[in-house]
Amino acid sequence: MEVVIDRSVEVLANLAADAVEALLRRRPDAVLGLATGSSPLAVYDELARRHAQGRISFARARAFLLDEYVGLPADHPERYRTVIERELVSRVDFATDAVHGPDGSADDLPAACARYEEAIAASGGVDLQILGIGTDGHVAFNEPGSSLASRTRVKTLTDQTRQDNARFFGGDVEAVPHHVLTQGLGTIREARHLVLLASGRAKAEAVHQLVEGPVSAMWPATVLQHHPHVSVLLDEGAAGRLQLAPYYRQTWASKPDWQGL
Ligand code: GLP
Repeated sequence: MEVVIDRSVEVLANLAADAVEALLRRRPDAVLGLATGSSPLAVYDELARRHAQGRISFARARAFLLDEYVGLPADHPERYRTVIERELVSRVDFATDAVHGPDGSADDLPAACARYEEAIAASGGVDLQILGIGTDGHVAFNEPGSSLASRTRVKTLTDQTRQDNARFFGGDVEAVPHHVLTQGLGTIREARHLVLLASGRAKAEAVHQLVEGPVSAMWPATVLQHHPHVSVLLDEGAAGRLQLAPYYRQTWASKPDWQGL
């Protein structure tokens, strides 16, 4: 696990965008894993900027979302498929039907989850997965207690996550759905490169557990410790509880630029 700590969220977003750009140059038909939430927004802004400059094209790429609320109507502004359309897809040049999300409106949710797993597998798997982390250590919507081997399925959100996400629903926690579809931890672990971004003091304990805690379903993100290629990009607030922060800083500072993430 590589930990990068920087004061500037823009610097971190640039690093993530560099990794996406390098991947798309190497493999224009790469499969990207997209996350919603506020953490990746600066990355999407940077990717849109680079696309506008003619530096990168998504024309042959495909993408899969991590998760989706159950039951939000198709035109709801906080439906994750709508959010990613607004924040990234509409600003770059993905082909029609190249971006997929779990179908939170399906009549048969378990069947929709199984179809989603099949679609990811049929694409050849995710090359680079962008991730955030919840204050309770969730990744995607894998709440504490999630099986570390889980696949895409229905989950129930904790009160903490519903409260955290209420800001996207006009501050009304009752408007946040209780149920979601989410890629499982076993699904996410199969992506070839995981790039996790976190900022702010509220994430410090979850980040400490992710990087330095024992692997445990109580802190679902800790499963990433089993993955061979994880980049954890943190601002000073999110890095605030790391015991080995001086070591991570020194390691990053002495890494040759050409290596990238
Ligand atoms: C949400 C999403 C996650 C996201 C997390 C953190 O619930 N399902 O994919 O990583 O919470 O969100 P934020 O980046 O807004 O703090």
